Amino acid sequence: MNTPRPPVRMVLQVNHAEHTLSVAPDTPLLYILRNDLCCNGPKYGCGLGQCGACTVLVDGLPARACVLPVRAAVGHAVTTLEGLGTAELPDPVQQAFIDEQAAQCGYCLNGMIMTVKALLAQNPDPDEAQIREALRFNLCRCGTHVEIVRAVKRAAVLQRRASEGAAS
Ligand code: FES
Ligand code: FES
Repeated sequence: MNTPRPPVRMVLQVNHAEHTLSVAPDTPLLYILRNDLCCNGPKYGCGLGQCGACTVLVDGLPARACVLPVRAAVGHAVTTLEGLGTAELPDPVQQAFIDEQAAQCGYCLNGMIMTVKALLAQNPDPDEAQIREALRFNLCRCGTHVEIVRAVKRAAVLQRRASEGAAS
C-alpha cells in the first residue's frame, strides 16, 4: 500500500497570483484549486482524465487537473476559468457561449471553454472539423454539441475582433 507523501511547502502561480501552500505533492491540482484557492470553475467529473470537466491551462495548454499532481504545476502558469474574465467583462469565449446559449446543465462548459481558449491561441480561425477535433475528448452528457460548435465559431470571431481592437 502506498503511503501518502507528507505535505511540503510549494508556490503555485494561479491566475497571475502566487500562492504559497503546504500540501501533499501528489494531491491532484483540481483539489487544491477548488478546496484551497476557491477556484470552482474547474469541475470534478470522472476524476480519471477522461471527461475534460476539470480542464485548466498550464502555460497556455489544456491540462486535466483531476489527474495532474500539484507538484507538476510548480513553476508553471496555471489559468482557470476565473482567470479569463468576469461577469461584468467576460472573455470573448465566455461571451460567445452565453450568446449562443450553449449549455443545458453547464457542467462541461469549464472544460469546453478552456479547451477552446487554447485552440484559438494556436488557431484563431478554426474550421468546423478542427473545432470538433479539438473538443473530441471533452464530453457533454446533455448533448449540447451543436450549440457548442456554434459558440466556438462565434468565439473565434469575437476574439479576432478583440485582438484587432487591442492592436489598433
Ligand atoms: S474530471 Fe478530470 S477529466 Fe473528468
Ligand atoms: S451542458 Fe450538461 S454536460 Fe454539457
